[in-house]
Amino acid sequence: MRRSIIAGNWKMHGSREAVAGFCKALRGARLGAELDVLVFPPVAYLGQFVDGVRNTGVAAGAQDLHPAAQGAHTGGVSGAMIAELGGRWALTGHSERRSEHGESDALVAAKFGAALSAGLRPILCVGETLAQRQSGEAESFVARQVQTVIEAVGVDGLARGAVAYEPIWAIGTGETAAPGQAAGMHRLIRETIAASDAALAESIRVIYGGSVSPHNAAELFSEPEVDGGLIGGASLQVQSFLAIVAAAV
Ligand code: PGA
Repeated sequence: MRRSIIAGNWKMHGSREAVAGFCKALRGARLGAELDVLVFPPVAYLGQFVDGVRNTGVAAGAQDLHPAAQGAHTGGVSGAMIAELGGRWALTGHSERRSEHGESDALVAAKFGAALSAGLRPILCVGETLAQRQSGEAESFVARQVQTVIEAVGVDGLARGAVAYEPIWAIGTGETAAPGQAAGMHRLIRETIAASDAALAESIRVIYGGSVSPHNAAELFSEPEVDGGLIGGASLQVQSFLAIVAAAV
């Protein structure tokens, strides 16, 4: 059995007060020791969040990082800086980064590599648009997103991270992939990896994101292909996040 990941992606939400309240509730909660529970707050609050969840078993990470280790990159935050704040994970290639910031597969792969170099565990986000799904291109598009990272960091690099399948049409829309649809794409991701390393294809964690909620989480997580979730909107309120954590235990 692959160990599930339940990860909250706060996007650009939060405040010092919200972080304090969230951490307090996490400190009082019972979290399954058999899960990786992660939160990606805005990097501005990462240090506060890490301090707030000390000894709870919850880990934190950054929603993005710069591909360079340092330099003249105004606004950039490096993997080493994230690690120094206590971050252990990093999202790479979230669809909002790809669409709002024009991040290409090659740049995402460079960021995945930069996270590894800083000792962070990257989560590679992949997923197709509705138009790509309707025109039958979803599988080749997602396969390429995964393959580009394998070519950049090798299977050993990929093995130190995880993959999140997030169909763009399901992010923040209230539309969720049917469990069978998610499972089908998770299998495609594994087949893509299997072409380079069959064992890794089985062991790597592939989590689902896209309008996961306390209402649909148990059904999604009951798919053997689905090793947990990357949760946006429903991770902002600690009670709904914890309900999703409970659905994965
Ligand atoms: P959502 O976001 O759960 O609000 O759809 C998921 C994500 O973007 O990671």
